[in-house]
Amino acid sequence: MPTNRVGGRITVPGDKSISHRALMLGAIAEGTTVVRGFLASEDCLATQAALEAMGVAIERRPDGLVRIEGVGPHGLQVPSKILDLGNSGTGIRLLLGLLAGQRFDSKLTGDASLQKRPMERVAAPLRKMGARIATAEGGRPPVVISGGARLHGIDYQLPMASAQVKSALLLAALFADGATTVHSPGPSRDHTERMLESMGVKLGRTAEGAGHTVTLTGPATLRGREVLVPADFSSASFFIVAACLAARDGLVIENVGINPTRTGLLTILREMGAQIELRNERNLGAEPVADLWVVQSELRGIVVDPELVPLAIDEFPILFIAAAAAKGETIVSGAEELRKKETDRIAVMARALEAVGVAVEERPDGARIVGGRIGGGTIDSRGDHRIAMSFAVASLRAAGPIEILNTAEVATSFPTFLDVAEAAGLKIGTEERA
Ligand code: S3P
Repeated sequence: MPTNRVGGRITVPGDKSISHRALMLGAIAEGTTVVRGFLASEDCLATQAALEAMGVAIERRPDGLVRIEGVGPHGLQVPSKILDLGNSGTGIRLLLGLLAGQRFDSKLTGDASLQKRPMERVAAPLRKMGARIATAEGGRPPVVISGGARLHGIDYQLPMASAQVKSALLLAALFADGATTVHSPGPSRDHTERMLESMGVKLGRTAEGAGHTVTLTGPATLRGREVLVPADFSSASFFIVAACLAARDGLVIENVGINPTRTGLLTILREMGAQIELRNERNLGAEPVADLWVVQSELRGIVVDPELVPLAIDEFPILFIAAAAAKGETIVSGAEELRKKETDRIAVMARALEAVGVAVEERPDGARIVGGRIGGGTIDSRGDHRIAMSFAVASLRAAGPIEILNTAEVATSFPTFLDVAEAAGLKIGTEERA
């Protein structure tokens, strides 16, 4: 049984969603934007390279500080190449919004995983705004934008709560005439709204029951400014669960973003019996942060409230691990969106849990996981960063070693994962394979 213990104080790197947004908004702002705490992961570097290919000067210093010389709303230049966003859904979808109203043509693509992901959810509403966008077969990348379209505001009801679609429309709205209103059936991360407001854009925001609405009247100009990036809650989530499983004396994770549109996992884990305290709550720029203190506790299986799904959308792989370690069964429903992420996360997690002896019933919109015992074995993360990191955490409770295949993509969101995991006390060996 577990030889691994975790504890101490750790810091995880900067927030991925906020880092992407700082680059894009800083690029089209007037004046300089200085970003502290930027996440230099492959996904964010792909967005940086795309903006540089359109003439934006971005300096990234070894101490992590990033300086973006904003080119203003009309300063982007014809891209010098096809814009390759690698593995990044946020990168490609938000850039689609940003580029829909430019005077030049552009073409966006990504790696094998991104080329399977749906782009029409963004392209279709952008076309309603007047954009000319062609997606490839099945509505997937590569995506071609024909420049010179004159955009106008629209009133749009999102079919699902999606921060990427909402953000793409708000970015396009900066270049459109009139008001663009986006209605969501539920809340989704609001980093774009917070950053736009901090850069001087006025938004109308209302929440009625579950429904959320945001309005931006264009054209609008941004003012460059300092952006402070909290540690990424989604990266912290692996260590939150690790601490629930194996931190007898507690683990502190410092300076973590606790924007309420991101922290659904805390609600879910507390309902499962986790002991988590938010200490030293404060604001870091436009975002709330805290130091998280988490101590080992007996987790119980629960029925997860489907309303929490958008607030924990990237945390389901690690939640499935918590469920596998918990006493009793956990049921997840209303989470079909998980099938549209870097991999089909319901299917890939189900196969991987089975490979380590956990009984799991895959369902169209979720899963039933019977917790209690995790065995050793070999799992294939299929190149999904969050699945690879989740099984590293599962090893804390596994009866034998867990071997995780296809882990290179961890660098898309958390390039220093092994170092931070080691600092927290996890024992992970690595091996290069062709
Ligand atoms: C993100 C939004 C979410 C999330 C993704 C990052 C963002 O996707 O899964 O990892 O930065 O806006 P959806 O908007 O598709 O839910």
